[in-house]
Amino acid sequence: RLEMTLRPYTLDEYIGQETLKENLRVFINAAKQRSEALDHVLLYGPPGLGKTTLAYILAHEMGGNLKTTSGPSIEKSGDLASILSTLEPGDVLFIDEIHRLPKQVEEVLYPAMEDYCLDIVVGKDRATTHSIRLDLPPFTLVGATTRAGDLSAPLRDRFGIVSQLEYYQLPELEQIVARTARVMDTDIEPDAIAEIARRSRGTPRIANRLFRRVRDFADVYNEGLISQDVAKDALDRLQVDSLGLDHVDHKYLRGIIERFKGGPVGLEAIASSIGEEPGTIEDVYEPYLLQIGFINRTPRGRIVTAKAYDHLKVPYQKNLF
Ligand code: ADE
Repeated sequence: RLEMTLRPYTLDEYIGQETLKENLRVFINAAKQRSEALDHVLLYGPPGLGKTTLAYILAHEMGGNLKTTSGPSIEKSGDLASILSTLEPGDVLFIDEIHRLPKQVEEVLYPAMEDYCLDIVVGKDRATTHSIRLDLPPFTLVGATTRAGDLSAPLRDRFGIVSQLEYYQLPELEQIVARTARVMDTDIEPDAIAEIARRSRGTPRIANRLFRRVRDFADVYNEGLISQDVAKDALDRLQVDSLGLDHVDHKYLRGIIERFKGGPVGLEAIASSIGEEPGTIEDVYEPYLLQIGFINRTPRGRIVTAKAYDHLKVPYQKNLF
């Protein structure tokens, strides 16, 4: 395979998540030595950090195919059964948002994960109804979720490998942006790479999205060269600030400061006050704001920190609640 694609195909091409990568290398080699399927893998963490990409890589490294689906799209146990029955030895089944699997569907998954088998209920009425057991090939389930805490304990316990993906460091994001520029055959200055990486909130998916938009500006205004000036100008126009915070982050922080005196405020109250979904706020926006120390979670709700006031250039008033 000579041509390089945007999505890395091997563990060696995958940048970042070093500890996880090293461990996965061992588990992959051990499974291959024993001619077994890799144990089931649960990946959790904020969106955009490469959970789907890792599932592709695991399938490729194990020499199997990848089948992908998601928790909300599997409504009945029959839906899952039909997906499972298409698996071949060594395949990887990827279930995104696995915390949203319906309860009855989850129960089909238990024997499939534990014993590679499928219990199917057949029969028209009470007198003839019985279950038959179908064997499945050895396969690997890769589950992804933004919240490991929302997974039921029995499901979580059936994963042999459980790992949290972490926000990427700046040098890693720079490597990813540089790689994307190479794959997309675009000229980019080192300072522009750094500028995009700095504003990507530790998230490769955001880095790649910002890269594409900046490249649009470069194509239209700078004959395709992504200079630092073009990058800065484009990112400012996209309303992505110097730390990568966007319009919604600003609305959220200012909402808490202006309407709730900096907090503490409950998730529901702030979400409805700025017109965003509580789930989106909790899974997408808050994890990064927590990570950079702009908000804290207290038993009484969210509070905005002095650091965030400083960044927003709003005078800090210590809250005397
Ligand atoms: N593209 C998106 N995420 C990546 C990663 N972690 N490594 C390499 N390329 C990527």
